[in-house]
Amino acid sequence: MRIGVIGTGRIGTLHARTLSRHREVGSLILTDADPARAQQLAHRLGETAAPGVDEIFAWGVDAVVITAATSAHAELIGRAARFGLPVFCEKPLALDLPGTLHALAEVEAAGTILQMGFQRRFDAGYAGARQAVRAGRLGRLHTVRALTCDQAPPPADWLPLSGGLFRDTLIHDFDILRWVTGREVVHVSAAGSAAGPPMFRDAGDVDTGAALLTLDDGTLATATATRLNGAGYDVRMELAGERDTVVVGLDDRTPIASTEPTGPPAADKPWPGFLERFAPAYEAELAAFVEVVRGERANPCDGREALQALRIAEACEISRREHRPVALAEIPGGFAAGAR
Ligand SMILES: NC(=O)c1ccc[n+]([C@@H]2O[C@H](COP(=O)([O-])OP(=O)(O)OC[C@H]3O[C@@H](n4cnc5c(N)ncnc54)[C@H](O)[C@@H]3O)[C@@H](O)[C@H]2O)c1
Repeated sequence: MRIGVIGTGRIGTLHARTLSRHREVGSLILTDADPARAQQLAHRLGETAAPGVDEIFAWGVDAVVITAATSAHAELIGRAARFGLPVFCEKPLALDLPGTLHALAEVEAAGTILQMGFQRRFDAGYAGARQAVRAGRLGRLHTVRALTCDQAPPPADWLPLSGGLFRDTLIHDFDILRWVTGREVVHVSAAGSAAGPPMFRDAGDVDTGAALLTLDDGTLATATATRLNGAGYDVRMELAGERDTVVVGLDDRTPIASTEPTGPPAADKPWPGFLERFAPAYEAELAAFVEVVRGERANPCDGREALQALRIAEACEISRREHRPVALAEIPGGFAAGAR
């Protein structure tokens, strides 16, 4: 199998390295808006670099992995669909709903595969939580607390391309909330703070955000995120029911210190970032994509899942800007299928 990788930045480098080692992947063609970046990576991996995206399609590939900046996703998904190619695309699907809906329409018209990169669905901790909820171990679920904390902020010039904290970062929490609970979000109330470094205010973004989400069975969830968590990379989810409580992301590398005299010791080697924390999950989602392309399994996360997560992020953006609760029904693009 020959795969084209478009975008060889942080996550593109990781995905290209993973695919390059996969036994079912014969070769890769790498490209980037900065051709030197793609060339250097191709050289390191013993793969081929293409001067641009056109060559990926002209030279012929069996599938495409899109790891370019979010602003480029929708157009690239559409192009791949028109070539009849299966696509793995990093989240979010696009920066806005019209772009997302347009790309989805192209994929559906072409009848091609689009697998989205919500890697938490392949993390052992989240899979355990989903199993606990679905097996009834927690009893009736009443509260979920989700959080994502980056240790250090991204570069200032990256922020305007990201879509903002809710669409770029909290979208992971929104997706995994649906996946773990099997429920849909019906209302949100969100706030953001840009009291930290001025680059967030300059980009119209926030460095810290919080959302209160009501699920369709009455479960209440909070999701918070920050770009400024000095202690380390902290991604957790606590789920509390009438019978029991479980937590995802609590291990000997969780960057949190107990102030109790008998509390657990602080982590020796706190998680520094997503590349380390989710390394096995990133590898598993790409292994799944290869199986999907080979027709060996169903798509584990299609474009409609990404649309639902983006609708929640859009509702939160409206809520924080307009200082009001927002019903998901206000956001276009809803579909009747329900969470899977
Ligand atoms: N799933 C995750 O945990 C996760 C983590 C990080 C990033 N991401 C997503 O991956 C994408 C890339 O993020 P990153 O952190 O690697 O960013 P990055 O800035 O490190 O890399 C992006 C690369 O894309 C290239 N590029 C931009 N537009 C292009 C185009 N039209 N054609 C070809 N190349 C293009 C840039 O030159 C750059 O090298 C984003 O959509 C981001 O949301 C997901």
